[in-house]
Amino acid sequence: MSTKILVAYYSSTGNVHQIAQAVAAGAESTGAEVRLRRAPELAPAEAVESNPAWKAHLEAVADVPDVTPDDFVWSEGYALGTPTRYGTPSAQLKQVIDGLGPQWQQGLLANKAATAFVSASNAHGGNESTLLTLNNVYAHWGAIIVPSGYTSANPYAAGGNPYGTGYASGGATDTPLPDEYVEAGKAQGARLAQVARLIAPLRADR
Ligand SMILES: Cc1cc2nc3c(=O)[nH]c(=O)nc-3n(C[C@H](O)[C@H](O)[C@H](O)COP(=O)(O)O)c2cc1C
Repeated sequence: MSTKILVAYYSSTGNVHQIAQAVAAGAESTGAEVRLRRAPELAPAEAVESNPAWKAHLEAVADVPDVTPDDFVWSEGYALGTPTRYGTPSAQLKQVIDGLGPQWQQGLLANKAATAFVSASNAHGGNESTLLTLNNVYAHWGAIIVPSGYTSANPYAAGGNPYGTGYASGGATDTPLPDEYVEAGKAQGARLAQVARLIAPLRADR
């Protein structure tokens, strides 16, 4: 039976969305069954309307289903992605995380592989702190944290971030993700799925 991987993310202007697609493709390349899901938008319509790139992206991903707690329960490994917001995850992704109290309490998030990806505008604008903040959440959930490390074919070409794929967008909106970051995301997704499969006995013992 194929390993079940959830890739859940929030993106306002498309950078994190593209990393999510790469992570999902990487997991799929190992034979995993993947659900690509997005955190629902929380911002008021006026805010979205005032930013053409945000509005265009929201319309472009209308067919991507919203993530639900059941997606986490279903999964054997999950990857969470977010743009940085002052060095921390976006409220939209945090709202998803904060809605998982009942699943956490029942141990339904534990003993699953977990990884994170991010985009900040600046190279030193909060990529690492945002990834490490998500690792804090994973510790509470009892997940098995899967960092990217320096394990992809050419990690230094994608910023050399061992915590997870982190793309400094420079504030670009919906421009194509550079190939190096696509490759980093794919490698991260493949590694997540491999670890999720390897730790299956942990979940069987639960
Ligand atoms: C409210 C807000 C806070 C942000 N905080 C930071 C920050 O602390 N550091 C940074 O480099 N970029 C920051 N950004 C920029 C975004 O993280 C960045 O543009 C990212 O690439 C957007 O990803 P997306 O296209 O997937 O939405 C912020 C953007 C917003 C709207």
